[in-house]
Amino acid sequence: MALLEIQKLNRRFGGLHAVNNVSFNLDQGMIKAVIGPNGAGKTTLFNLISGNLPANSGTVFFDKKPIHGLKPFQIARCGISRTYQNIKLFPGMTALENVMVGRHVRSKAGFLSGMLNLPSSWGEEKEIKEKSLELLELLDIAEFADTEALSLAFGQQRAVEFARALASEPKILLLDEPAAGLNIYETAEIARLITKIQGRGITVLLVEHDMSLVMDISDEIVVLSFGEKIAEGLPAAIQKNKEVIQIYLGDDDA
Ligand SMILES: Nc1ncnc2c1ncn2[C@@H]1O[C@H](COP(=O)(O)OP(=O)(O)OP(=O)(O)O)[C@@H](O)[C@H]1O
Ligand SMILES: [Mg+2]
Repeated sequence: MALLEIQKLNRRFGGLHAVNNVSFNLDQGMIKAVIGPNGAGKTTLFNLISGNLPANSGTVFFDKKPIHGLKPFQIARCGISRTYQNIKLFPGMTALENVMVGRHVRSKAGFLSGMLNLPSSWGEEKEIKEKSLELLELLDIAEFADTEALSLAFGQQRAVEFARALASEPKILLLDEPAAGLNIYETAEIARLITKIQGRGITVLLVEHDMSLVMDISDEIVVLSFGEKIAEGLPAAIQKNKEVIQIYLGDDDA
């Protein structure tokens, strides 16, 4: 079943057609990768899905309901969560506190009353803390709960970001280059965590340049080039696709 349906999505920046008539579906439970050279439009596509940028035209349906035109917080509440190409953890906050911030999207009391520690939010705050700790455990970083997030190793910071994105209990997780800047051991750990997240029933859309990671964990791949979708299919077919090899894999030794 298609959980996310992207149809004829377009976004221009002045004369540049950053996302050009892109359509594809994301089926429930899958890990689908979006690959393509630098500037192909991958992050812009994510920004259109998450509502961080408005599309010029086209539609996005989530669970059969239109979400294009909604604000980012509304889309997050629907069940789509994301991480960013550059790690965006909150400085001066522990790993646990960073995850708790993500959880407040779901809470009734809201972020502010929680942070101000108002009595109305105490019961809920306890629940938020427990759920956030569970997520740190899921991602095998519970031992760092009370460590300042930005003092952790890069790979662990990525895991905190995953936990924070999962804290809103999304159905779909958008990951923009989760392995960027990681060494091979950290990348292997991130691959394991993404697969673990999929095992919890969460659908994943993944932008990534690390081809071995993409080929290892993706169920399907979409290839973008200069804003256009040039191929879509199973990893084995994409690896053999002549156009893909020529425009992307051929000139990328990453
Ligand atoms: N806010 C913006 N204003 C103007 N141009 C932009 C903006 N955001 C992106 N672009 C341009 O749109 C094109 C697509 O950019 P985008 O960031 O989506 O590519 P990408 O596939 O994510 O690349 P990378 O792999 O380097 O992250 C690029 O040419 C970029 O310079
Ligand atoms: Mg990008």
